[in-house]
Amino acid sequence: METVPSHSSWAMRDKACIWHPFTQAQTAAPPIAIVKGKGSYLYSEKGDAYLDAVSSWWVNLHGHAHPYIAEKIGAQAKELEHVLFAGFTHPQAILLAERLLAALPAGYSRVFYSDNGSTAVETALKMALQAGDPRKKLLSFEGGYHGDTFGAMSAAGKSFCNRPFWPYLFEVSSIPPPIFGKENESWERFEKAIDSGEVGAFIFEPLIQGWGGMMRLHSGEVLDRMIQKCEEQGILTIADEVMTGFGRTGVLFSCGSLKAAPDIICLSKGISGGFLPLGATIAKESLFESFLGPTLSQALLHGHSYTGNPLACAAANASLDLLLQPECTAARARIEEEHRLFQQKWRSHPTLLRCEVIGTILTIEYKIGERSYYNPLRDRLLEFFLQKGILLRPFGNVLYLLPPYCISPEELHRIYSAIAITLEEWLW
Ligand SMILES: Cc1ncc(COP(=O)(O)O)c(C=O)c1O
Repeated sequence: METVPSHSSWAMRDKACIWHPFTQAQTAAPPIAIVKGKGSYLYSEKGDAYLDAVSSWWVNLHGHAHPYIAEKIGAQAKELEHVLFAGFTHPQAILLAERLLAALPAGYSRVFYSDNGSTAVETALKMALQAGDPRKKLLSFEGGYHGDTFGAMSAAGKSFCNRPFWPYLFEVSSIPPPIFGKENESWERFEKAIDSGEVGAFIFEPLIQGWGGMMRLHSGEVLDRMIQKCEEQGILTIADEVMTGFGRTGVLFSCGSLKAAPDIICLSKGISGGFLPLGATIAKESLFESFLGPTLSQALLHGHSYTGNPLACAAANASLDLLLQPECTAARARIEEEHRLFQQKWRSHPTLLRCEVIGTILTIEYKIGERSYYNPLRDRLLEFFLQKGILLRPFGNVLYLLPPYCISPEELHRIYSAIAITLEEWLW
């Protein structure tokens, strides 16, 4: 057994052996070693508390180390930790599939499990490409982000973050998303792409783009028309709800606010309440049936060692128990209400380019420097909030809140007050 190290030694030891994601190790500050989580807070080995305003990369729903979910995982671990998922099944996976299908908008009947958001998207792409016309292209929104595996990177189109891999990405057609005020341009580009006859499937993040689009909202009405037109033309549609799923946009799933029903929905992140990695790709029966046939080669030949892991499914079932409680719906509504009050107060501030709210997500864009991930404002803001014990990870000049649903009004106000300092007291 390891002995408990003295203060700061985890961070030092990390430097010698860990390769971190999205990090330039040469210039990055040493990582903050977190040794405990509780509610909305993370606690470092030095004893500092950080209010997690981004739900640890958007995965946590009900607070850190939630005892109910922890208990359910523990109980499942004592029964069955894992079993291969081809030729075998288990109660937690079946229960979860039944409950997800009941919680999603009507029309879906099949759940394919994988390990994370990227693999949920990869699975969806393989479903759509195998079922559709192989000569046709994928259509996506500019500024989309669907994950870091090759299919997911390709789907998002070429961007600064996948530049080293451009020669290896498959070709996609991209159109601007229907952001408010620019809906017509987006629709015209969409029609042109569809009318070319080259599009076989369309992937999008519904209502708000995350990482790639810098948390920008777009019109659900236009998106609805796009999905409907795809349906008429036999083009498969994929809603990537990896970020938006499980209540982030207020409703349980963003697709629930649409009239049209995309053919495939990708889920991950919040699915397990932030405890264990799990992805789910949800399909309609007609798509599932198109893979039926007498030979294995017609099946979807895709899977992962941990597909349908019982512990992850148990965590997801426990998280759903909490998510479906009226208290959780009320908590999400309360967060949105607070965000909207903040928005009313600050949206016209001269230092802001935009201040947008959807459900539990609040985004502000500073009118400082260029709209870019490399905007140096990012480091300044990150450091400022960390000093105040608040974990926020800006995208360049864009700051967003995506808190766990257990966050209290007082905790939200602490964050808003810190943002107010950046607007009112910093000498821009
Ligand atoms: C919309 C969307 N799709 C897919 C992914 C990839 O998920 P993961 O990081 O779990 O692979 C992300 C991650 O941020 C995402 O926001």
